[in-house]
Amino acid sequence: MKVEIETHRDGETAVVEYDYARRDPDEKPMILDVLLQAQATEMPDLAFRYGCRARNCGVCTVDVNGRPRLACRARIREGDRISPVNTLPPLADLVVRRDGVARQMRGRLTSVAQGNDLNQDPPEDYHKLTACIECYACLQGCPMHARNFEDSTDPGASEGYRHGNPFSLLKLQMLRIDPLSSEAGREQALEHAKDLGLDACRDCKGCKCGVGIDLMGKVVRPLLAAAGE
Ligand code: SF4
Ligand code: SF4
Ligand code: FES
Repeated sequence: MKVEIETHRDGETAVVEYDYARRDPDEKPMILDVLLQAQATEMPDLAFRYGCRARNCGVCTVDVNGRPRLACRARIREGDRISPVNTLPPLADLVVRRDGVARQMRGRLTSVAQGNDLNQDPPEDYHKLTACIECYACLQGCPMHARNFEDSTDPGASEGYRHGNPFSLLKLQMLRIDPLSSEAGREQALEHAKDLGLDACRDCKGCKCGVGIDLMGKVVRPLLAAAGE
C-alpha cells in the first residue's frame, strides 16, 4: 500500500513515497503502523511523536490529507498523504512545536485555587471536559489561532502564543467551573479568555474536537455568555 510521507528538514519540505508492507492481506493499518515500519526500514531518521498508543496522550496527531488525525487510532488508505499538523510550526518531519500553546497559561492565572477540599463534586460538564487529551486537532480552522501567524514568521511560540484556540478556551472554562477555583480565579480565567481573543468566536462557525467533546456547547458558548454579562 503506497502512501506519501512529508518530511521537513532545515526549512526544506520533501515528500517520500513509502510502500507499506501489510502484515497480512486483510490488515487495515493505523497511521502509526506505517510510520513505525517506515522508520524501521527505509526512513531510519524519520521524526514523529507517539506515547500511549491508546488515544490517551494526544501527542501522535498528524495531518492526513490536510486533516488532523490521531496516528495511533486512525486508519490510513492507499494514496493518503501524512504531514505535520498544519496549525503549528514544524520542527522536524512530523514533529511540531507544541510548547507555545501550553505557555499561554503560564504565569497568567495567579489566584485560581481556593483550597483543596477533594470532597467537592465538580459539575457533570467538568468531567466531560477532562476527556481532552491535548491532541490539538481542534486548532485546525480556528481563526483565533490563525492570527498568531498573520504578522510574524516566529509567532511567539517560546513566549506562548498571543492568540488562543479551542483547547486554551477549554482549559479556561474548566477553571471557571472547577469547584476548587476561587471567585477571583474564575474571573481571571474569563479575563484571560477575553485577552486571548474570545471575541473571534462570535462570528465563527465553530470548532470540532478530535475525541468528540462538545466544544461549542460546553466551552465556547458558556464563555461567550459569561463575557456578555
Ligand atoms: S469558535 Fe472560537 S475557538 Fe472555536 S474555532 Fe471559532 S474562533 Fe476558534
Ligand atoms: S479539545 Fe479535543 S481536539 Fe482539542 S486538544 Fe482537547 S481532545 Fe484534542
Ligand atoms: S500515541 Fe497517545 S494518543 Fe496516540
